Amino acid sequence: MRDMRLYINLDHVATVRQARRADEPDPVHAADLAEKGGADGITVHLREDRRHIQDRDVRLLMKSVKTVVNFELAVAGEIVDLACELVPFQATLVPERREEVTTEGGLDLSSEARRGSVARALERLEAVDIRTALFIDPDEHTVRASADLGADAIELHTGEYANASGAARAAQLARLQAAAAVGRDLGLAVHAGHGLNYRNVGPVAALADLEELNIGHTIVSRAVLVGMERAVSEMAELVRKARAG
Ligand code: PXP
Repeated sequence: MRDMRLYINLDHVATVRQARRADEPDPVHAADLAEKGGADGITVHLREDRRHIQDRDVRLLMKSVKTVVNFELAVAGEIVDLACELVPFQATLVPERREEVTTEGGLDLSSEARRGSVARALERLEAVDIRTALFIDPDEHTVRASADLGADAIELHTGEYANASGAARAAQLARLQAAAAVGRDLGLAVHAGHGLNYRNVGPVAALADLEELNIGHTIVSRAVLVGMERAVSEMAELVRKARAG
């Protein structure tokens, strides 16, 4: 079976920082640690509302990341401009709505107008040699529309799989498998992500036609917990030493 690349999405390291508009935790530092842990790539989503990742983060990551940067972006002129200026290894086009908590569905490629705006963004990204991916729902017609648009890759939305249980989850896994097979047959690289965690990743990671996973929230969540004991003991030691004079 082909290898699976694991890209780590660090948006929520920036979410913690932005909660205080402070300078920690720094996603640039987190990227270095993620690479030490075995990340094959670093993913960040620069949202139009800048709720977590900031322009400064993307600019610094472009210099510091030793693996590759996967830049998630909406089909929005200003952010496409930045991608074309910085030339990350990969750009993944995603839908974006201001009121959503997280990316809710895949790109809508159902109308001529929507396909046209995606096509214009793809053309600009491809003109500067950025590998392109479209984040889509795992439906055959959307996979075919992505191939027609000339993207290099698709990222299949695993959110519905992650939210389902029992037989419904098995059906969602079969849906991912079928969409991935169509994508491979059409010559697309097939990625997947959203809502994957330590409990549900296994069956998706085993799908033969996939070659890249993008995982974020669960890793940042776990990092907070596995790092808590050490973080507190370091602070307790500082306080103890200060008291001891
Ligand atoms: N892939 C895409 C396109 C996303 O928008 C996100 C969330 O930002 C992810 C993967 C990662 O999802 P999660 O944080 O749930 O692992």
